[in-house]
Amino acid sequence: QQDLKGRILELNKMAAKYFYYQLRTENGAQAMEYLKGRRLSDETIKGFGLGYANKYSDDLYRYLKKQGISDELLRESGLMNVDERHGMYDKFWNRVIFPIMDVNGRVIGFGGRVMGDGKPKYLNSPETKVFDKSRNLYGLNIARTSRQKNLLVCEGYMDVISMHQAGFKNAVASLGTALTTQHASLLKRYTDEVILTYDSDAAGTKAALRAVPILKAAGIAARVLHMDPYKDPDEFIKAEGAEAFQERIDKAENSFMFEISVLEKEYDMKDPEGKTSFFNETAKKLAAFEVELERENYIEATAAKYHIGFDNLRKLVNRMALRG
Ligand code: UTP
Ligand code: MN
Ligand code: MN
Ligand code: MN
Ligand code: MN
Repeated sequence: QQDLKGRILELNKMAAKYFYYQLRTENGAQAMEYLKGRRLSDETIKGFGLGYANKYSDDLYRYLKKQGISDELLRESGLMNVDERHGMYDKFWNRVIFPIMDVNGRVIGFGGRVMGDGKPKYLNSPETKVFDKSRNLYGLNIARTSRQKNLLVCEGYMDVISMHQAGFKNAVASLGTALTTQHASLLKRYTDEVILTYDSDAAGTKAALRAVPILKAAGIAARVLHMDPYKDPDEFIKAEGAEAFQERIDKAENSFMFEISVLEKEYDMKDPEGKTSFFNETAKKLAAFEVELERENYIEATAAKYHIGFDNLRKLVNRMALRG
């Protein structure tokens, strides 16, 4: 009698293989076309084990029953929906399937995307005995072997896959959820530096701002990559290519400089009063650096970025520091 976790993992592997196989049949032709339309190569599709869940909502259920899987195990796996009217049926149907692996490459859950504009865009496995979103990062099983000095952390499945295909095999995703302290300690096992490559929209910016202190607390230095005018890494790479993306990585801002460029947007910098308020706020943040040399370095960088005198800014920072 194997333990429940082991049995769920085995079942997940079985399901992943079935989805993988379906993508390569006539049933999966449209899904394959969708993935090709998103410029994924055969090698990439294979490398990430992508698959297809058939359009009949009992397709996987019937397959797994034929393999002798119990309803009880199916319920524990998160692969099925259960309700009184319909009984047990597939959670994923007519979707492209992204198996989610843990660091050791075991299939712990799935994401499924509609092939078009339907809602919800992505469905994900619920939390199960083997799947805890706050403790796993998509792509880390590959990224951990990438031998890069940093890891790229993004939002989505397609971002990870596009980055890997473009040669950035150090990309991982927190899959829509906010970065947790558990994610940060997991990351810390493999790197001391993270480059945040979240979406350029308001939600992505907010997520980046929230992730920075969490990473810092785990002893990880953070930089933030500006994606605009594109929405996310996948779109950036599709439009500009790998070399341009590498240039952005090289130019990625230190997390403090990113924070103040976000802050800047809250003020009317053409108005002397707005500008003054912005510098006051910035000086307060600078005053919070306790190590003097570090504080001086940031004052210098900020003064240079906004074309103001170093001494003026330092005076302002000292005044803020006195106020506590
Ligand atoms: P996005 O909405 O930015 O999607 O969500 P995306 O990754 O750019 O997807 P494409 O390019 O349109 O295919 C980012 C991540 O948030 C999670 C997914 O993990 C997604 O990759 N998400 C998003 C969901 O879980 N459900 C959703 O309905 C939407
Ligand atoms: Mn560094
Ligand atoms: Mn988004
Ligand atoms: Mn996105
Ligand atoms: Mn996208």
